[in-house]
Amino acid sequence: MATLNLPAQSTILVPAYHQGVEIDALLAAGYALRYYRVDEQLRIDLADVEQRLDNTVSALYVTHYFGFPQPLEPIRRLCQARRLKLIEDCALSLFSRDNGTWLGSVGDLAIFSVYKTLPLPHGGFVVTKSERPTTALPPAPRASTFVQMGDLLQQGLRSSGWGRVEAWAVRASRQFAKVIRWNRRQTICSGSDWDPRMLGYGVSPWVARVMHFMDPEAVVARRQFNYMRLASHLRFHVTCPFPDLPAGVCPLFFPIIVPDRSAFQQDLEKLGVQSGNWWEVSHPTCPHELAQEMAGWRHDCLELPIHQELSAAHIDRIAAAVLTVVTRRAHGDDRRLLATERA
Ligand SMILES: Cc1ncc(COP(=O)(O)O)c(C=O)c1O
Repeated sequence: MATLNLPAQSTILVPAYHQGVEIDALLAAGYALRYYRVDEQLRIDLADVEQRLDNTVSALYVTHYFGFPQPLEPIRRLCQARRLKLIEDCALSLFSRDNGTWLGSVGDLAIFSVYKTLPLPHGGFVVTKSERPTTALPPAPRASTFVQMGDLLQQGLRSSGWGRVEAWAVRASRQFAKVIRWNRRQTICSGSDWDPRMLGYGVSPWVARVMHFMDPEAVVARRQFNYMRLASHLRFHVTCPFPDLPAGVCPLFFPIIVPDRSAFQQDLEKLGVQSGNWWEVSHPTCPHELAQEMAGWRHDCLELPIHQELSAAHIDRIAAAVLTVVTRRAHGDDRRLLATERA
């Protein structure tokens, strides 16, 4: 952030739909925040942004949700006209493009999170246009890399049907932790919770090395294929807010809108399909009326996997499970309706 030379304590405009840790990071850096609207399609409301500008505002923070680009050209024009620095949050959009333009290449600063897209324990990076050197941070502690590798391994075992081995490994590691009196909370781990200790560390050198083995074009192609295959199965049966994929987009998940997503998620899990129900709550600093506008997304959006390691058969299985839960719910609703009519 220091490379942007923003006046101390100036205001950054941030979106009403956010994870929360990015908000905490900006607050920890000492900036004042002001929230702006994003519409029902999660697009930045530029008219609302304009209305919230005053001479304390020094930067605009935009998030490319699920890999889908925000309209970068009008955003860039607005920032240029109003002398604002543009910060692109690409945590959810590694390798994504808006046609030919890489997300993260327009802003004065862009942040990326690699472990959300790639099978790595942790890691992120910052892209800046500034000539000013960024601060070199010490690598993440070894214990952190070790613990998060363990998490990845555990997830890998579970999703490959090695549930018994996973259960055994969990028991063994718990015992081991007891013996050495180790408490996970002492280890700094990246994730959905804010941990200010993270600010002092950069990526593990291992992550940077392993990233060189990744083939971005192959990752994008596979994710696009999986996304479109899932869309073709689901689009006429369940609410899909983004059934199409604009050119260049590297999708992170396939979002669907289902009432009572936690129950839906549990039903899917019983059928052997994991999904995500992130971003449940707004940051406490977000004004109530703006937070309320995002409540639908926060309560009903379920994220289905389209990871590059999934095959067409996996995608078909995910779709079949979703359709099973949808059908069961519809029948359940019919039965409830009948019972009410009879009563
Ligand atoms: C929109 C957004 N920005 C930033 C972050 C922080 O990324 P990381 O987990 O790599 O610190 C997250 C994490 O969930 C996020 O969702």
